[in-house]
Amino acid sequence: MVFELKRIVRPKIYNLEPYRCARDDFTEGILLDANENAHGPTPVELSKSNLHRYPDPHQLEFKTAMTKYRNKTSSYINDPTVRPLTADNLCLGVGSDESIDAIIRACCVPGKEKILVLPPTYSMYSVCANINDIEVVQCPLTISDGSFQMDTEAVLTILKNDPLIKLVFVTSPGNPTGAKIKTCLIEKVLQNWDNGLVVVDEAYVDFCGGSTAPLVTKYPSLVTLQTLSKSFGLAGIRLGMTYATAELARILNAMKAPYNISSLASEYALKAVQEDNLKKMEATSKVINEEKMRLLKELTSLDYVDDQYVGGLDANFLLIRINGGDNALARKLYYQLATQSGVVVRFRGNELGCSGCLRITVGTHEENTHLIKYFKETLYKLAKEQLK
Ligand SMILES: Cc1ncc(COP(=O)(O)O)c(C=O)c1O
Repeated sequence: MVFELKRIVRPKIYNLEPYRCARDDFTEGILLDANENAHGPTPVELSKSNLHRYPDPHQLEFKTAMTKYRNKTSSYINDPTVRPLTADNLCLGVGSDESIDAIIRACCVPGKEKILVLPPTYSMYSVCANINDIEVVQCPLTISDGSFQMDTEAVLTILKNDPLIKLVFVTSPGNPTGAKIKTCLIEKVLQNWDNGLVVVDEAYVDFCGGSTAPLVTKYPSLVTLQTLSKSFGLAGIRLGMTYATAELARILNAMKAPYNISSLASEYALKAVQEDNLKKMEATSKVINEEKMRLLKELTSLDYVDDQYVGGLDANFLLIRINGGDNALARKLYYQLATQSGVVVRFRGNELGCSGCLRITVGTHEENTHLIKYFKETLYKLAKEQLK
């Protein structure tokens, strides 16, 4: 198999020259090159800040620190076929939602080409595909055995029979399933298909480890997405990361709006990758994982809740099935928890293989204790009413 990026990326995008500004050459002196307001920011509170200047378009310092961390925590440190990541392997987006949109626009011709998604999965792949007039093909995760893993044989059959599919989106750990997709299954697709890219969305990877990001140096058709929104607790700054070969990262960087990452997002992102803050991220993820196990034990021991969770325990949420898949009861529980107990969880009962399921994000210890109390009270009350 010979993978050629030129065959995958749309020709106009492949040959795109990045937007250049005078600031790429000169950053010091009296800056009269970018039509900014030299008097400074108008809000008085911000007058001492540098926010009247356009942000850095490249974020080299952040990218260097982030890739250093991913190398340090890589599962492939002793694998000679995997090289260390560098800043050249990264493109940053306004959340990974922008990164998803960018990779679709880079590779798929509107009205003609397609993506493959593996439901139940994150809905933004289909939303972005629809906005871009790209058809969405589906290959369900393995539902019958409850593992919610990728059905590699079925995926490869679909891919081999449809040359118009350019991207496969694999969510690992899955949303709403919480199940990490085994890396050997992802590698099998990478090794047996060269007509497009495998995009592994790792929004929740820090809750289980084993990122595929280092593998982009081994498999040129792999793209790994990550975000600061979950384990780093920075959903508000909107910062997503696309790991890819240097060749593809260069193209995605050429394609993005030059100043997509604001100065404030950039500043906070850089703080997040300082040594002590990375330790804090790891420690918080550990606490969340411990709380997840407490929630699991408490909730699955209740009447009208199935003893087994659905999917996996690899993310910062649980997928819990109510009364053997009772959508009516699950929906009522969802609604009453929100309106009468002030706890908002997510009803996922309409997703493939998730009938009667609620997706519950792990909160703080106090929030979880509140949830457990009201979940039990509300569920028992509703179940009693239903049985009348
Ligand atoms: C699987 C998955 N990917 C991506 C995202 C979006 O992340 P971001 O906040 O970086 O846009 C989410 C958010 O819930 C998600 O669940």
